[in-house]
Amino acid sequence: MVHQECINCKTQYSIDEIVYFCPKCGEILEVKIDMKELAETLKTSDWKTKPLSVWRYRDFMPIHEATRVVTLNEGGTGLHRSKRLGDELGLNEVYVKNEGENPTGSFKDRGMTVGVTKAVELGARHVICASTGNTSAALAAYAARAGIKCTVLIPSGKIAYGKLAQAMIHGAKVLQVRGNFDQALEFVLKLAEKHKNIYLLNSINPFRIEGQKSLGYEICEQLNNEAPDRIIIPVGNAGNISAVWKGLTEFYQLGYIKKLPKMTGIQASGSAPIVQAIKTKSDKIIPVEHPETVATAIRIGAPVSWKKAINAIRESHGTAETVTDDEILDAQKMLARIEGIFVEPASASSIAGLKKLVRNGIIDRDERVVCITTGHGLKDPDTAIKQCEKPVEVDAEISTIEQALGLETRKVILAR
Ligand code: F0G
Repeated sequence: MVHQECINCKTQYSIDEIVYFCPKCGEILEVKIDMKELAETLKTSDWKTKPLSVWRYRDFMPIHEATRVVTLNEGGTGLHRSKRLGDELGLNEVYVKNEGENPTGSFKDRGMTVGVTKAVELGARHVICASTGNTSAALAAYAARAGIKCTVLIPSGKIAYGKLAQAMIHGAKVLQVRGNFDQALEFVLKLAEKHKNIYLLNSINPFRIEGQKSLGYEICEQLNNEAPDRIIIPVGNAGNISAVWKGLTEFYQLGYIKKLPKMTGIQASGSAPIVQAIKTKSDKIIPVEHPETVATAIRIGAPVSWKKAINAIRESHGTAETVTDDEILDAQKMLARIEGIFVEPASASSIAGLKKLVRNGIIDRDERVVCITTGHGLKDPDTAIKQCEKPVEVDAEISTIEQALGLETRKVILAR
């Protein structure tokens, strides 16, 4: 049987019940799958014949058999062996799992295809989220696909333009809150509590985490059923690192992989409550009241899934590290230039974190490392343009163009 369970007091709730926080103790919930039952189902399932995607793992998802899925073909993103990046950093085997290749350009699509499918299954006609940008873009798209209403709350002036464009064009009701993400999240939690007809799809929603766990499954399958030694992942609200870890532990329990990787979370130095807790060996986080970073996607001071994230890092013997805005932007440029992979600043924090951890001697050159890049670079064109040389403007004339390129301007008569 599949059920929802409180991560603290372990009280169980049905997967057909709309409940976001445990009514008994106030903690967040997770979906629990009976692994023995799943193993039985998988014996007669044809899942391995399906293409790599979130719905290849339909048997692993808490969605009823009769439900029609709301999909835009998410998952199945590239795991790119990045030799030049490895050479640059002195590592033998580095991969980039590029989640920017998803339909709306971020890993959020994995969660939203399952989350919105669940919303429709539960009969919801109106969905809501608070977002630093990507969640709102994904929710707006999947709500449009499902034909239901969507409202998003975003921190005013602090989301990248591409993401805002996505939420708007998909027809979501966009409210720019004069405040930060943490405040916007407080409001949507209250709204969903008060107005029961509005279904909440932030990452406290455990069904979204179920979709995102497919990221962990995919990495192992792409490495021929082996886990890497380490997975490095940007952390904001901390849903994704928890989701990837959940996927990995499920694959481990099913016997598909023989070991588990070290989960390594990266936060921007201006908003790093989880890194702080890991480094001080604390069992609590101290929220950052005024988080700041160029990586607006992870500009979050009070991550709602912090307990799950800290658990993932500790259980896997991983670590957490901060990176500065300069390190993030350098890494973004480096990845774009030496590997041809353009990611948004928050995503580049995993690459910046890799660089720092190698420099500090935490990562060994022989480790097999997977860096997850979470969102596409085109989400935030302004930040990319700002850090590059301006294009040279030239007259519409061959000689001026040649001059600008440092080429010889001698006249050549072309044979016709
Ligand atoms: N990378 C990107 C590009 C993101 O958009 C986010 C989160 C993260 C990393 C961090 O993931 O929150 O699961 O730890 N963006 C959310 C949003 C908060 O609203 O789009 P997380």
